[in-house]
Amino acid sequence: MSRLVHLQSSTVSVVLSTNRNTLSLLYWGSALGEISNEQDFLAIADDGQSWGVVDQPVHPSFWREGADGFHGEPALAGHRGRKDWSPKFTLTKVAHEDQTLSIEANDEQTGLQAHVTLTLDASGVLYVGQSITNTGSAPYTLDGLMTWLPLPDRVSEILDFTGRWIKERQPQRTPINVGTWTRAVREGRSGHEHTIVQLAMTEGTSFQQGEAWSVGLLWSGNGRYSVERTSMGRTSIGAGGLLLPGEVELAAGETFHAPSIGAAYSDAGFDGITDAYNSWFRSRPEHPTNIRPRPLTLNVWEAVWFDHRIERLNELMDVAQEIGVERFVLDDGWFHLRRDDYAGLGDWWVDPVVWPQGLGELIAGVKARGMEFGLWFEPEMVNADSDLFREHPDWILHVGERTPPEQRHQQVLNLANPQAFQYVFDQMNAILNEYDISYIKWDHNRVLVEPGYDGAPAVRAQTWAFYELVRALKATHPGLEIESCASGGGRIDFGAAMACDRFWTSDCNEALERQHIQRWTGIGIPPEMLGTHIGPPKAHSTGRTHSLGFRATTALFGHAGLEWDITETTAEERIALRAWADYYKANRDLLHSGKVVRADGIDASAYVHGVVAQDQSRAIYSYAQLTPAGAVKPSNFLLPGLDPKRTYQVRRVEFGGSAGVLENPAPAWVDGVEVTGKVLAELGLRPQRIYPENAFVIEVTAAP
Ligand code: DGJ
Repeated sequence: MSRLVHLQSSTVSVVLSTNRNTLSLLYWGSALGEISNEQDFLAIADDGQSWGVVDQPVHPSFWREGADGFHGEPALAGHRGRKDWSPKFTLTKVAHEDQTLSIEANDEQTGLQAHVTLTLDASGVLYVGQSITNTGSAPYTLDGLMTWLPLPDRVSEILDFTGRWIKERQPQRTPINVGTWTRAVREGRSGHEHTIVQLAMTEGTSFQQGEAWSVGLLWSGNGRYSVERTSMGRTSIGAGGLLLPGEVELAAGETFHAPSIGAAYSDAGFDGITDAYNSWFRSRPEHPTNIRPRPLTLNVWEAVWFDHRIERLNELMDVAQEIGVERFVLDDGWFHLRRDDYAGLGDWWVDPVVWPQGLGELIAGVKARGMEFGLWFEPEMVNADSDLFREHPDWILHVGERTPPEQRHQQVLNLANPQAFQYVFDQMNAILNEYDISYIKWDHNRVLVEPGYDGAPAVRAQTWAFYELVRALKATHPGLEIESCASGGGRIDFGAAMACDRFWTSDCNEALERQHIQRWTGIGIPPEMLGTHIGPPKAHSTGRTHSLGFRATTALFGHAGLEWDITETTAEERIALRAWADYYKANRDLLHSGKVVRADGIDASAYVHGVVAQDQSRAIYSYAQLTPAGAVKPSNFLLPGLDPKRTYQVRRVEFGGSAGVLENPAPAWVDGVEVTGKVLAELGLRPQRIYPENAFVIEVTAAP
């Protein structure tokens, strides 16, 4: 059998070796074409022998065992009673079919067996799954299992994201030096500072240019991303679950499945990374847009908060109908005792005081106005002031006699406890059985502190229970959609993306902040999965006031909706909102299937964001003026992604009136022009000078 395995898509090659009876990753990068001579390729990948290290070539395998003289971080850490801590795997099975390589490897001395599957998707995303089985007779303590991929020596920078509540996904670029850069997740959920993907790049990589390599974990619990450069001169990128001390002890014969990773490579800047991930997500049959168009949503949280008077909700419904809303979501406050955020979590039945007749009348009203209905839950949480906690105080995650500090007056229910799991499932299931509910907003408003179950760490078990509860509810209620929310963007990750249909991108609903948050969250998550709602003129999160045009343009480029008291709107605003809603509905096929592009080379005071149809027949861009332009004539903005040879009609679109004009007349193109894609990509358009914190849309359509 061949000792080289070449997985190749139209853009990416991954070359693996089964030489020396182990699995090694020799190459991950742009597509290489045919590898004609296996022997010569192996010769090129050979590192030779250096003085100052062990007297044999050091070729790290997939598991990066120290037994080979490798001194970077090993992929696997663990022991059996202080022994069996240094594995050395030998291949026992290799199966290569199409773009998938599956291997089994054993180490009889440590009593471990490994399974690895690598699949290169047509999108160019490399999926890697791996597991470890304890084949020994005594328990094995597993401390960690990372998945590492090789990076070329020319990578020089790292990009990842941090953040906080109402300011998620702030980018940070760091030079790569010898040592290890690690982003760890310890909140028990991926969190507001979660990077979603970790990138490494060649110098100066931008949205449109340069090379980038990226990994994302399919995991919503504790985790780790690392980039390591060793003094040997080699660089790698890795990701894995982060295990608390003693969290995983494998009984004899038991298997540990590591969180999988999705890895993308691009030689066309960050846009290439986004394109690969978006294509990968969209190729799933269960991807939300493969089921149906993304309904325009009204979430009533920021309109009514805990005030659930039916008259208020009816008024909102009337205006929602007038605007053309398709999904009406009742947020927090509908269940037992829930008059504020001090009580009720865990008691998932309709509060008889606030809703004496149940939710039937409300839902009938929603449906009579042509909308579907969605409902809020926070299934993993419990308030001390709840019947559930009074009956089962021991059902919370905790350690010993200590009770974790409350956050938002709540504790975390231990869903790894089968009784607690069943209790929550039964209550949610009863509500879903009783009412016509198409959608759940699934919140998670606190971090995990001392997350113990019977004294042992239980983040991993809790994370699997979250996935299982989502799976069970969806299986019982086919068609049910679930939005992952955690005080906004606190649980956005590839694991939740595989389980759920949508994310609440941030509790910050303010257009200027959202320009940044959506731009960077969208590196790895398709726009149709990111909730983008028009908030009120004055944002509660920043106190800034924005025009309807800026808010509407910003909310257009995701799964659009509204989240403010729309009964306060004027008749004129409602007409503008209706036009915006119609535009969203008429163009969501493009917005939710096209290639996402972000222009380089523009004045730092503005963002250009676009979505280009896969056949390049149409595109919609936004020009957002974030701060005042530095120059009298702001720099031209380029419209990337179009067919250079085709002629396009260009038209400016504004919602809710002008974006505030600082020059009159405007550049002549705003009245409409016909030019080639090449002209739009190379010369571009000069933006009309507009007020900062304003935006307009540019619609581009291939001329007939
Ligand atoms: C936090 C969420 O992010 C909000 O959108 C809202 O659902 C509240 N929780 C409700 O308590």
